Amino acid sequence: MNWSWWLETWDRQQELLLPDREERFSFMFDLVEAVVGRPRALLDVAGGPGSITLRLRQRFPDVRVTLIDVDPSLLAIATGVMGSDSNVRVVRADLADLNWAAALSAGGYDAAITANSLHWLEEAGLRRVYGDLAKLVRPGGVLCNADPMPPEGIDRLIAALEEQGEHRHASAPEGELDWGSWWKAAAGDPVLGSLVAERNRRFGGEIHPPDFTPPLRWHEEALLAAGFREAGCVWRRGAAAASTPETQGLSLLALSEKKRGSLPSRSGGRR
Ligand SMILES: C[S@@+](CC[C@H](N)C(=O)[O-])C[C@H]1O[C@@H](n2cnc3c(N)ncnc32)[C@H](O)[C@@H]1O
Repeated sequence: MNWSWWLETWDRQQELLLPDREERFSFMFDLVEAVVGRPRALLDVAGGPGSITLRLRQRFPDVRVTLIDVDPSLLAIATGVMGSDSNVRVVRADLADLNWAAALSAGGYDAAITANSLHWLEEAGLRRVYGDLAKLVRPGGVLCNADPMPPEGIDRLIAALEEQGEHRHASAPEGELDWGSWWKAAAGDPVLGSLVAERNRRFGGEIHPPDFTPPLRWHEEALLAAGFREAGCVWRRGAAAASTPETQGLSLLALSEKKRGSLPSRSGGRR
């Protein structure tokens, strides 16, 4: 089984939707390093087949990364690619379960990173997950969530950008898999097929549940209420409101916040 091929083609189809996905990952890692220094333990939340985990291991050679996701097919890919790396732990957990974090260590992570995922949760679930993440991240640590978080009051600009995005990202180049054809290929694979079927039962099909993409203000309030000390947008590309596949390329947002408690000093506590 060529696990790397599955991860690489996953990356390609995600880049069709998010052309500057790589830049966004790099920015999140810069952010983590700026806040906590060299991280020791990181959480990749809803990390799918492990794109972020792999890049974190390349960037921070000593870091331990725990990847959690509910999708058995994507987790099989992550395990296939990184299962022999003793600094990577792959955990199957459903963020919709109240006790999804039971197998994780409270306060044990310098940072939690998540990208293009939490809009799959419904409102109450996302609010609760923010509370759980506030407990998992150590004081002084950071949560970084890159997901569509539309600004308010610029509806016409958003509509114009979204329309342009739809034209720009309408179809995959010749020979490349897009989101739909990637899942079809995985469903037809002798090893992944049954896992994809299991995944489709969880999500009700290859398309995920309706998006919940409230404005940035909602996230800021929910994060502060969850116990983070600061919450806000630290990086934005475009202004799109929705996260339909065609428009995600324009709705690039990163969110950063520092958990309550004092930040370690630059000279001493950073690591
Ligand atoms: C579009 S993928 C992004 C994956 C990865 N972060 C990346 O950028 O390549 C969304 C991920 O969220 C995961 N996910 C959605 N709902 C989830 C839930 N309730 N619990 C755990 N993972 C979930 C999916 O299984 C999927 O791996």
